[in-house]
Amino acid sequence: MEDLLTISETARRSGFTASALRYYEREDLIEATRTGGGQRRFERHELRRLAFIAAARHVGLTLEEIREALSLLPSGRNPTKADWAKISRSWRARLNEEIEALERLRDGLDGCIGCGCLSLQRCRLSNPQDVVAARGSGAVFLPAPLHPTAE
Ligand code: FES
Repeated sequence: MEDLLTISETARRSGFTASALRYYEREDLIEATRTGGGQRRFERHELRRLAFIAAARHVGLTLEEIREALSLLPSGRNPTKADWAKISRSWRARLNEEIEALERLRDGLDGCIGCGCLSLQRCRLSNPQDVVAARGSGAVFLPAPLHPTAE
């Protein structure tokens, strides 16, 4: 029987708040059982799901993308290496897209990024009178993953 963690133990070990854990459980991203008194108990393997959620959110993936990925994992049992490999394969292209976007940001930040500020010498050449505004909002020269998403 896998050892069960209380919500405060899970919060402490995962770095998420108890309210975030309750939210992710409501969103079916993690699972918890209940004691006779109705208290949540998390199986230790839920910590890996939480670490995955934290990393995914950090690189800008949406809750829907995270839910889709985690749906590849079996419920009610400890996911195996092969289970996680399935997710890794399904995500490779998406993560490469994020990596490429961040590299372009890292390499392009000292030039004009097409944001409309017209504050750099370079903007006069790359974006005179902010002509790129016609192409969309945000830093038009940066990859789409770095553009603002409607809240
Ligand atoms: S950097 Fe903002 S428009 Fe060029």
